[in-house]
Amino acid sequence: MLRTGFVGWRGMVGSVLLQRMQEDGDFKHIEPVFFSTSQVGEPAPEVGVDAPPLQDAHSIEALKSLDVIITCQGGDYTSSMYQPLRDSGWDGYWIDAASTLRMADDAAIVLDPVNRKVIDQKLSDGCKTFCGGNCTVSLMLMGLGGLFDAGLIEWMTSMTYQAASGSGAKNMRELLSQMGQLGDVVRSDLANPSAAILDIDRKVTAAMRGSDFPIDHFGAPLGGSLLPWIDKKMDNGQSKEEWKGGVETNRILGTGDRPILIDGLCVRVGAMRSHSQAFTIKLNRDVPMDEIEDRIARHNEWVSVVANDKEDTLSSLTPAAVTGTLNVPVGRLRKLAMGGEYLTAFSVGDQLLWGAAEPLKRMLMVLRE
Ligand code: HSE
Repeated sequence: MLRTGFVGWRGMVGSVLLQRMQEDGDFKHIEPVFFSTSQVGEPAPEVGVDAPPLQDAHSIEALKSLDVIITCQGGDYTSSMYQPLRDSGWDGYWIDAASTLRMADDAAIVLDPVNRKVIDQKLSDGCKTFCGGNCTVSLMLMGLGGLFDAGLIEWMTSMTYQAASGSGAKNMRELLSQMGQLGDVVRSDLANPSAAILDIDRKVTAAMRGSDFPIDHFGAPLGGSLLPWIDKKMDNGQSKEEWKGGVETNRILGTGDRPILIDGLCVRVGAMRSHSQAFTIKLNRDVPMDEIEDRIARHNEWVSVVANDKEDTLSSLTPAAVTGTLNVPVGRLRKLAMGGEYLTAFSVGDQLLWGAAEPLKRMLMVLRE
């Protein structure tokens, strides 16, 4: 059995990872060892199998005893521990939620329902470092994998509506605090049906712009507003989140020197943990809609096609409907006015499941095959 170390398992992605592994009985197939940066020696979490007390996540000696390390501890941990561990001679498998190593020559980005062939090739080439992809990229590929597989996409834009969870647990709390504060300032007006809506709006806007509105984590109001910038600025004017859309997609698909052009705008909205995306897809031929829907729906067991009507869209194609599930619905499918080669689509997916923990969990299970 693979002796598998878990680092960063208490955080949001790590907790979802442990929960999913327990649901699927994965712990029965590995020998888990839990690590901590602050509570060494405390009992391991209850996962249905015995595990030794928490080990020191900064101890190269302790980490060297492992066949596999899964880390959800974040990029700083990866930056400080990965290379010294490799330099110490450790040649186990490193599975990482952080973006730090995604573009490294000797690493691969994992999303096995989409790129199992790339993963198998990397494994047979001796690759030992596997990273989860950016959440919007993984969710987009889970939704549109059937079109990529068939080589139908010439280029694509992705306009995102990203949930607070992508920024972290503190940001989710801040979003809720903002929403609560906005509700609080007009609570009595809302109870009064004759209160003027423009007065209500003025109070809400004043609260949002007020100096005591909680914006420490987002840097600006998100509740009642949106933030059309995610991550750092790149030299070409893209945000880093937008840059990842193109480079990570092509790396996952292994397109090599024939990359598919993908670009768009990434926007943070007041959803809790499901990311949504609107796509404009330039097909390389005028593919009939029934073939498009069939290819999308048949690609993997989690994607589904939502009929392009209001009722189905509102009941199945929203963060409220999808959050907490592995479902990746794709809807609003229709040809655009520009012509038969121009397709639009909208998808939703849980940022913490397929967007973060699930590809890592599945990579561990690939290793034990
Ligand atoms: N970068 C993503 C976001 C989350 O900010 O929503 C993780 O991939």
